[in-house]
Amino acid sequence: MEKATKSKVDMDTIVSLSKRRGFVFQSSDIYGGLGSCWDYGPLGVELKNNIKRAWWKAVVQERDDMVGLDASILMHPQVWVASGHVAGFADPMVDCRECKHRFRADRLWIARAGTNEDAGYLSVYEDSPEEARAGLQKKAGKAPIEEPSLLSDYASYPLLAKAPCPSCGKTGTLTDPRMFNLMFKTSAGPVNPMDDLLFSLDALIAQGIAVDPEKLKAFRDNAKEQVERAQVYMRPETAQGIFVNFSNVLNTTRRKLPFGIAQIGKAFRNEITPGNFTFRSREFEQMEIEFFVMPGTDEDWLRRWLDVRYQWYLSLGIKEENLRLRQHMHTELAHYAKDCYDVEYLFPMGWAELEGIANRSDFDLRQHSQYSGKDLTYYDEEAGQHVLPYVIEPSGGVDRATLAFIVDAYDEEPDKDGTRVVLRFHPSLAPIKVAILPLSKKEPLTALAKEIHGVVRKSWMTQYDEVQSIGRRYRRQDEIGTPLCVTIDFQSLEDRQVTIRERDTMSQVRIPITDLVPTLSRMLGPEYQP
Ligand code: GAP
Repeated sequence: MEKATKSKVDMDTIVSLSKRRGFVFQSSDIYGGLGSCWDYGPLGVELKNNIKRAWWKAVVQERDDMVGLDASILMHPQVWVASGHVAGFADPMVDCRECKHRFRADRLWIARAGTNEDAGYLSVYEDSPEEARAGLQKKAGKAPIEEPSLLSDYASYPLLAKAPCPSCGKTGTLTDPRMFNLMFKTSAGPVNPMDDLLFSLDALIAQGIAVDPEKLKAFRDNAKEQVERAQVYMRPETAQGIFVNFSNVLNTTRRKLPFGIAQIGKAFRNEITPGNFTFRSREFEQMEIEFFVMPGTDEDWLRRWLDVRYQWYLSLGIKEENLRLRQHMHTELAHYAKDCYDVEYLFPMGWAELEGIANRSDFDLRQHSQYSGKDLTYYDEEAGQHVLPYVIEPSGGVDRATLAFIVDAYDEEPDKDGTRVVLRFHPSLAPIKVAILPLSKKEPLTALAKEIHGVVRKSWMTQYDEVQSIGRRYRRQDEIGTPLCVTIDFQSLEDRQVTIRERDTMSQVRIPITDLVPTLSRMLGPEYQP
């Protein structure tokens, strides 16, 4: 399958539609917004719930080898020491002294361009090496470019002085990379140590006490200890909730390897360079699976999950030309990963990660065993020995999936009034499945329409709309992706029949009201073919 090279829609169009129709709003909008935090509106929450439901159905409900879990967001702080997040969950960050832009050094690419006499350095800020190469070549024009280097590689540090800022283009303005921990901290317990500290400082100031350096140091050390004792982290991934519950699930379900645990939940990251709408947010939701397997079968299970997860997106309507798998380069692998692939989607800003599928080896169970002192092995009855399972982790983002499904569904086509905007959602994802539209807002038509609405809404999310012309109402439903509209006209009062209008083909069928629910069910069901 030949892959597309450019998204058919730009991000501004998606952002504007999302706000206008109530999919996604900026968080705390009336206060000027909070950067990279988003609120899902009435349609967005339906779409997001449908995506989560479809995921859960595919990976838990319809599989024999999976169970679910819902772990708490706040966990024992040692979890994050064992997992490597306290020491290692940090992005290298580079600032431009001139234009004040901040970049992740592991997305900042630099390459030498040109022939010997007029060679110079060019830089781009891209997610993947292919995009980096393409972007650099575009900047270089006809001049040849060398293989790009990432500024986060130690070997590239000498290039920093030669690297132009990708934003303002000035050379020599980039700072050395600094590590920036992505975990949000908060405190647990009745006393917030920071408040306590401020209170004590206020008391000292009010009493006008001259500060004795010894006492000040003791005071500072005590405050530090208090802060550290109460400190907890907002989880940066849901995965660790699964690892620390491995024995609980094993003991209560008596599962045999291979088996997996699925979880959907919020995660928090203090991203340095958030952006691209909901793509990189500070608060987001993950749909994660930790699939425990016998060591030695891990590579085979990784391949199986790659296929399962790739097919899931296609089964819900993502166009194959906009989806691809990309294996991580060795330098990209997370500290826990033996191997990793990204399912990438062609977002308006280019190809980017939708879901990561990693072989985490036995890293996490080994670490938690060591730090907790608890035995997290599995007893292999056949071999008569304890083993530490390997883990395959398909980890997707609900917000990224929601964005990808909106982008992929977006379509425009000319019609007699100008342009028809349609979100061609798969019926199982569409926020509203059926719209009930009486031709006029007059009685007794509306009474019949409301009666029908009362019946249909028991099975599906519906909208009742009697405002403006029927043509406008169809367009409103097309724009939010409603697959079916039911129109009730004056003839319906006589013959007890209604019209079903289909979103994609705009074809219409007239059916008896008594057949309405089974017909809608058939049209929205798995055999539904627009
Ligand atoms: N447990 C593994 C893990 O968390 P990850 O690649 O860092 O791996 C998994 O995250 C998925 O979570 C990503 O593929 C993406 O869909 C989503 N994700 C990660 N960071 C995100 C962010 N800042 N905003 C929105 N989604 C994010």
